[in-house]
Amino acid sequence: MSKQQRAKLVVGNWKMHGRLAANATLLQAVAQGSGELPADVRVGVCVPGVYLAQTQALLEGSRVEWGVQDVSAFTHGAYTGEVAAPMVTDFGAMLAIVGHSERRAYHRESAELVAVKTQRALEAGLTPIVCVGETLEEREAGSTEQVVGAQLDEVLAKLSAQEAARLVVAYEPVWAIGTGKSATAEQAQAVHAFLRARLAAKGAADVPLLYGGSVKPENAEELFRQPDIDGGLIGGASLKDQDFLAICRAAAVTSVAG
Ligand code: PGA
Repeated sequence: MSKQQRAKLVVGNWKMHGRLAANATLLQAVAQGSGELPADVRVGVCVPGVYLAQTQALLEGSRVEWGVQDVSAFTHGAYTGEVAAPMVTDFGAMLAIVGHSERRAYHRESAELVAVKTQRALEAGLTPIVCVGETLEEREAGSTEQVVGAQLDEVLAKLSAQEAARLVVAYEPVWAIGTGKSATAEQAQAVHAFLRARLAAKGAADVPLLYGGSVKPENAEELFRQPDIDGGLIGGASLKDQDFLAICRAAAVTSVAG
């Protein structure tokens, strides 16, 4: 499938932000604003799990998909504090971020654990958004492809081609997350092309590849115009309805229908 045939996907990653009142305003604005986007632009939000019921109530019937930022590697049992993927689907969720760099760094999630979480999400019928990305040190050492390749391979090794085809993969350079310093469109495209080739070798060439890391209304369009960038995973800017919707519109103008 060529770039022109792949839909665009923009997903907000709220991280540990939000309260009931602010969420309601944001979700209603996103539901309403996204109604004006062309059909080949998908929009999603990944919220803190405790707000899933609220999110479902406010987004059901809209075109916005929703989900969580992590799932447990276990299906059920004595795992205090964990939330299992099937629980998330009780609230109509479709998406689950796995392997975000903040979880890899602050919760010591290994590549192996991320791969198991991806399997649990798939088994529950969720679309895992598998995050990969290198640190500044790794980039400067010239090992970006080695690092993101190893992170992706660990996941792909556990999946069939059919399962791999159900993934979304997000390239998020650690040095670009929350820093205001996005990768350039050329830097991001180069890594996306590398990831695309890896996925193609697994028989999953059409997996949506999102870029994440300081995506803003000002840089979204240039990023989304790259042949292997199918959309974005948006942190800070997803908390401001007007910014998030502007990024969705940038996806729309770079989509087939746009
Ligand atoms: P940012 O975060 O857009 O705030 O850089 C992106 C992410 O971590 O998913």
